[in-house]
Amino acid sequence: MSVTVTPLGPHLGVEIAGVSGGDLPTAEAAAECLELLARHGVVIYREAHIKDGDLVAFSRLLGEVVPNPTGEHELPEIATITLDPAKTDATLAWYRRGNFLWHIDGATDQLPQKATLLTAREVDPAGGDTEFASTYAAYEALPEAEKAAFADLQVLHSFAAAQLRAHPDATDEQKASWGRVPVRRHPLVWTRGNGRRSLLLGATAGEVIGLPPEEGEALLARLLDWSTQPQFVLRHRWHTGDLVIWDNTGMLHRALPFTATSRRLMHRTTLVGEEAVA
Ligand code: OGA
Ligand code: MN
Repeated sequence: MSVTVTPLGPHLGVEIAGVSGGDLPTAEAAAECLELLARHGVVIYREAHIKDGDLVAFSRLLGEVVPNPTGEHELPEIATITLDPAKTDATLAWYRRGNFLWHIDGATDQLPQKATLLTAREVDPAGGDTEFASTYAAYEALPEAEKAAFADLQVLHSFAAAQLRAHPDATDEQKASWGRVPVRRHPLVWTRGNGRRSLLLGATAGEVIGLPPEEGEALLARLLDWSTQPQFVLRHRWHTGDLVIWDNTGMLHRALPFTATSRRLMHRTTLVGEEAVA
């Protein structure tokens, strides 16, 4: 089958058709993927049907893979993404409801993850599309006065902030368990070594240092609204076997609603971050 590469919009997204999962763990395919990722932020291999072993091998060619030793898979790098407690650890399944909120993966780590690879094992026609928003494009489009005003702002990111949004009715015990994940302070504007800038936002962003809580929250909410305007957003409707890879440092993402007992089932790997937020 011939391979086609189709950009999906001016700011983010490229779709590759005609590649099968077994073709991906090669140096050439990995180099092409990294180049597309840098240029488009979200790379979609349509119906590649990649097997777990090839997903891990391909991930290793793209970077260092985050271990995820839950014991659920023969390969400890594979994570199960589902809301169904019958298909994964029940606590993890409950935390995954945070995936309905715009976020980046590993925002409370010192080095947020470089990229995430997600492949659809089972899809749900009733819901569960995934949306991505480019915070490079959103930053770039800000008025110059705002870019200047935000240059030195710092934001506190916490698991608790994200989980509280996902589970406003949580018990005190559940809330206490979130607090065991350390809070992280990051600049609002992430300037890369190559000069590219993005906004570091999402459900984990709870307070702006030096602003009264309501003012900080209002600013974060306004910037999230700004960054997730239609022109910065890509919506992916999954087909079984799709593999989607995103630059997790500059793409917010979220799942659109589906039920906890949905058949939707994803396998995921993540890549260790390579650049501290600066
Ligand atoms: C994730 C995630 C979204 C989705 O796995 O990190 O946010 O659509 N997934 O399942
Ligand atoms: Mn995520």
